[in-house]
This record gives sequence, structure tokens and C-alpha cells, in this order.
Amino acid sequence: MKKRYLLAPGPTPVPEHVALAMATPMIHHRTPQFSKIFAEAAQLAKYMFQTEQDVLILASTGTGAMESCVTNLFSPGDKLLVINGGKFGERWGKIGETYGMEIVWHNVDWGQAADPKKIKEILDGDPDIRAVMVQACETSTTVAHPIEELAKLTRDRDNCLLVVDGITGVGVFELPMDKWGIDALVTGSQKALALPPGLAMVALSEKAWARADESKCPKFYFDLKKERKNLANDTSAYTPAVSLVTGLLEVLKGFKEEGIENVHKRHNRLARATRAGGKALGLQMIAPDSPADSTTGFFVPEGIDGAKFVKTLRDEFGVTMAGGQDQWKGKIFRVAHLGYFDTFDIILAMSAVEMALKKFGHNVQLGKGVAAAQEILLEAY
Ligand SMILES: Cc1ncc(COP(=O)(O)O)c(C=O)c1O
Repeated sequence: MKKRYLLAPGPTPVPEHVALAMATPMIHHRTPQFSKIFAEAAQLAKYMFQTEQDVLILASTGTGAMESCVTNLFSPGDKLLVINGGKFGERWGKIGETYGMEIVWHNVDWGQAADPKKIKEILDGDPDIRAVMVQACETSTTVAHPIEELAKLTRDRDNCLLVVDGITGVGVFELPMDKWGIDALVTGSQKALALPPGLAMVALSEKAWARADESKCPKFYFDLKKERKNLANDTSAYTPAVSLVTGLLEVLKGFKEEGIENVHKRHNRLARATRAGGKALGLQMIAPDSPADSTTGFFVPEGIDGAKFVKTLRDEFGVTMAGGQDQWKGKIFRVAHLGYFDTFDIILAMSAVEMALKKFGHNVQLGKGVAAAQEILLEAY
């Protein structure tokens, strides 16, 4: 027998009460019964997004919602500034290119966050740029980009939107959409929302909705204006993911009960504990200067094959963590702590890392990482 633990940055574990809510008998979506669930979930999603704007719920993965931002807010030929510091930054640019937008690539070293001063210079030098496209957390590098600072740059530029992929940010750390002036914010179900994959959410500012009126990009399924009209009638344009929306309502009620500030504090505590644990073990963080609270990444020590390390954790220990992609393939591992995560998930993660390091012959004192994490985790009690 091997008990399995899921500590990867999505999909994340689903709490039992949410799984049970999703297992209730199927209901028809064009009924008062489902409309009530849909409306309540959309309303509570505003609390999570910290916005007064509509939050549209789409049957899609996160990438679909990213694509919807591109196709609904821009037109072919529009110039978009893409912050490219990892796999998902790159994705903004690829989607834009697919629809004929002109991409201004701003490459950032992996592990580093965008520098708002440099972004300001670019925007000052090119008033035709119609948006800054960025990740709140670039999951592939675990970097948190400075969204508040970037919003200060775009807020007063009539021509320029701030489009934020918050797929591993929303419900993890502060991203108050209205307060900061984020123009488009996206998330997906399989991350902090602790649901199975298949739902995405997107909210637009007034400024972004005005832009949507001008968009000449082709779109059909992801037509956000159409979705907004349907949401006003407590429904969606096409068949919604009934079970996932039922689960979403359950999760969002939990967010409200815990309080969004406490949700953020919990994630921050788990992140700090993980960082402290890794440091005590002598591990080098992959994003030391601007780490996100959703996932913590470390370089695998010299002489250890990172791919084998992650595979051993998964196949022998039963603990699934994430490895690295592209230039960091086989070089890093990432421990997730977003969604249905609490104190003892971090203890488990640290002890699994220690044991795997020892198994690979690394000079490690068992319990050292766990102890360092415990010191921080105790803050909660
Ligand atoms: C920051 C970020 N953006 C986009 C995505 C893509 O989301 P999906 O796989 O749900 O389309 C992910 C998934 O890991 C992500 O972490």
C-alpha cells in the first residue's frame, strides 16, 4: 500500500466536502435551482477577486480565460507588452501572436520579477502599447511579479490596460482588483480554489469593458459581452460545468467564512515555513528575491538528477511535487502550498524532501528542515 499526496501547483487536492457537493445528482442548468447556485457563486467570486465588477465563470481551463482576454480586449495589429519570465508569460505572447497582435516581448531572467522602472521606460517610449500582459505568479519560476506597481503605471494611461493572469495568485495573495486598478484578472479552478480542472473565471474593469466594445478580434465561444448579458440573468451562454460550479459555491463559502485576509495570511505562513525549511537544509531558492506564496521552488543540489529526484518522491514516497520545465528541466523541484493546504502538508513536504535528499546521498540532517518550518507554522496556534 502506498498513500499518495498531491503537492503540485495544480491540480491541487480537493476537500472532501467539496467533492461530496459535486457528487450530488445532476440537475438541469436552465432551472431556478441551478440559477441560484450560479448567481451565488458569481456573487461570492467578486469577494475573492475583490471587485465590484462581474466575475464571469467559464467552462474552460485557465488558458481559455487568458485567450478570452486577448480576443475580447484587442484587435489584430494591437501592440501588447508581454512580460516573459517563464512558460506562462510566454503563453500570453503566443496567444497574442495567434490572433495577429504585435507582441513587444520583455524578457525577464527566469527567477526574477519584472522591474517596474524598466516597464515605465518602455511604456513612456511607446504610447501605442495597448496593454501590459503579466502573471501575478509565474508558476514555472515561482516568481511573484509586482502587480501593484505595474497597476500604478497603467491606471492613468487611457490607452493601456493591465491584464493579469492570476491563475496561481487569486485566492493566494493580495490582488485587490478594484483598489489597485487591474483591468483584467483571470483564474482557474484547479489551483487555490481546490477544485478539479475545468472552470475559469475572468473579471474586467470598466476601462477594459469599454475596450471590449472596440475589439475587432474574431471570437465565438469566449465572447465575454455575451457571457456578461447571460450572467445578468443568472445563467451562462452555453451549458455550464454544473458540478464544478456547485463545488465552486462550496469553496467560495469557505473563503468567505475564513475571510480573504486570513486566506492570504495562511498561504503566506505556509510559504514562509517552506522557504525556512529549505534554507535550513541548505537549498537554494529559484526565486529568492520575489517568491510567490503559492509555490516554493528550490534548485536540486549539485550531483542530483532533478528529474529522478521528483520521480522518486512521486513513485517511491508517494509525494507528487513539480519539477522544472525548459531551461530548468531536471534542475529544480517545486513544492505547492496553494488551496486546500495547511500546517501538516508543509511538515509532510519538508520531511519527504529531507528523506529524498538523504536517499540520493546528499549530506542532510534529518529533521532540520521540518524543525525550521515548525517554528513558523506554530504562529497559527
Ligand atoms: C500562471 C499560470 N497561467 C496559466 C496556466 C495554465 O492554466 P490551464 O492549464 O488551466 O490552462 C497555469 C497552469 O499551471 C498557470 O500556473
